[in-house]
Amino acid sequence: MLWAVSLCILWASFTLGVPVNRGRQKLLLISFDGFRWDYDHDVDTPNLDQMAIDGVKAHYVTPPYITVTSPTHFTLLTGRYVENHGVIHNMWFNTTTMEKKSYYQTQFVNEWWDNGTLPIWITAQRQGLKAGSLHFPGTASSYQGQVAMMREVEPTRYNYKNETAWYENTDKVMDWFRDQDLDFVSMYFGEPDGTGHRYGPDSPERREMVKQVDRTVGYIRNSTENHGLTKQLNIIITADHGMTSIYRGAQLEEITLSKIPGFNFQDVSFHLLDYGPSGMLLPKPGKLETVYNALKGAHPHLHVYKKEEMPEHLHFSNNDRIPPIILWTDPGYVLNGVLQFNKGEHGFDNQEMDMKPFFRAVGPAFHKNLEVGPFETVNIYPLMCHILGIQPELSDGHLSATQHMLVTSADGEFSCLCFIIQLSRLLFTSGGLQYSNYTVLVTFLMGFKLV
Ligand SMILES: *[C@@H]1O[C@H](CO)[C@@H](O)[C@H](O)[C@H]1NC(C)=O
Ligand SMILES: *[C@@H]1O[C@H](CO)[C@@H](O)[C@H](O)[C@H]1NC(C)=O
Ligand SMILES: *[C@@H]1O[C@H](CO)[C@@H](O)[C@H](O)[C@H]1NC(C)=O
Ligand SMILES: *[C@@H]1O[C@H](CO)[C@@H](O)[C@H](O)[C@H]1NC(C)=O
Ligand SMILES: *[C@@H]1O[C@H](CO)[C@@H](O)[C@H](O)[C@H]1NC(C)=O
Ligand SMILES: [Zn+2]
Repeated sequence: MLWAVSLCILWASFTLGVPVNRGRQKLLLISFDGFRWDYDHDVDTPNLDQMAIDGVKAHYVTPPYITVTSPTHFTLLTGRYVENHGVIHNMWFNTTTMEKKSYYQTQFVNEWWDNGTLPIWITAQRQGLKAGSLHFPGTASSYQGQVAMMREVEPTRYNYKNETAWYENTDKVMDWFRDQDLDFVSMYFGEPDGTGHRYGPDSPERREMVKQVDRTVGYIRNSTENHGLTKQLNIIITADHGMTSIYRGAQLEEITLSKIPGFNFQDVSFHLLDYGPSGMLLPKPGKLETVYNALKGAHPHLHVYKKEEMPEHLHFSNNDRIPPIILWTDPGYVLNGVLQFNKGEHGFDNQEMDMKPFFRAVGPAFHKNLEVGPFETVNIYPLMCHILGIQPELSDGHLSATQHMLVTSADGEFSCLCFIIQLSRLLFTSGGLQYSNYTVLVTFLMGFKLV
């Protein structure tokens, strides 16, 4: 009787992972900035391929709008759409003073990030876990006075491409997991975004950078093994957005606001322009209709919306920080392109395939060799909370959208039940077990919530 129970528990703990060890599994969330879903199609990526065999690969994932770095990363950490978490742009701005801060400076503006939504580090720590973050957007800020227990913010003018530094940072994070017993860490790499912007997503330079990412994925998995973490550590690798090529040439009809008939910068009291495809405008009092009517329909590749009329799927309307008029261009175009020289851009509609990031996951919680369909990145947050065994905050994501990637408790319980039935039958036929033993065994296991 007892040996049968222990055998089943032993077997279950090997197979089930999550339900038996709930709370004991660790999780590393990695973002490779701007890694588009199909970047592995034209480059040899042995390590990413191996990760797909050992774990789960999604066809692609859908980021929230606005498809730029800080807003989409904060969605990964919170499971909320951008209008709900409030980090609506890479740049902090004040429409009264006209002041703006760069992406890097904005990392240090607490009021910008801490706008009512808690990132997973803080939630995990409040529930007794230990969390860390390395270079992940949002790391520098505090949230209701709290920060991630272990954290590292990159210095200004950081070289985001340095492969040696990528390996050192990997080992540092693995040390945190092993030596500080951290449960969750988020880690950020600033490529292939930089290379995609500078040379374009179809360039040989981008393909070389994808090889560097792939080597690093190999290094991450080796380092996991060398730190003795393979059986405990789950690794999710994804990105914030994709990248698309910008058209150039004399025949191209650029979208330049100052050349649009009826549009006058005098009618606008604040604007956020020259940021890839997107723009935001605050018209002066009484000038909303004038500005809107001048811009709407002014160019076949320019989208112009009043905030309250934004398309539903963008979830980019219901927030006081969003200015009254929102503009964006179709892929290939930028807004006020005369002032912009990047060959690749992002920030477009999140329905555009070129804006979709990749997604891979491996570890004891995940199925092996499973390819799944696309899902929205808001659903990564409830998945992470489930793996860590913590209660999520209010989010826009649903575990049901990502749970099929997991060796779920339901699967485990079902196969454990099958195992018990098989074992009992074996013992029945060998004459060593009577019906009473079977009942006792099942009752006992139900006490353990295994069946
Ligand atoms: C089954 O139960 C009987 C009493 O009901 C007990 O004598 C016997 O040792 C049990 N067998 C096993 C394999 O546990
Ligand atoms: C913008 O600046 C003005 C003037 O300093 C200030 O009153 C206001 O609170 C600021 N708004 C935000 C959102 O920081
Ligand atoms: C969010 O920020 C806005 C200003 O941008 C502020 O008015 C509002 O009170 C903040 N909300 C929370 C919950 O911090
Ligand atoms: C790359 O990083 C390594 C390790 O941190 C450092 O020693 C080296 O100077 C860096 N190289 C460049 C070009 O930044
Ligand atoms: C990972 O380890 C394997 C086997 O030890 C080795 O062949 C491979 O080069 C290592 N990869 C990296 C990126 O360190
Ligand atoms: Zn980015």
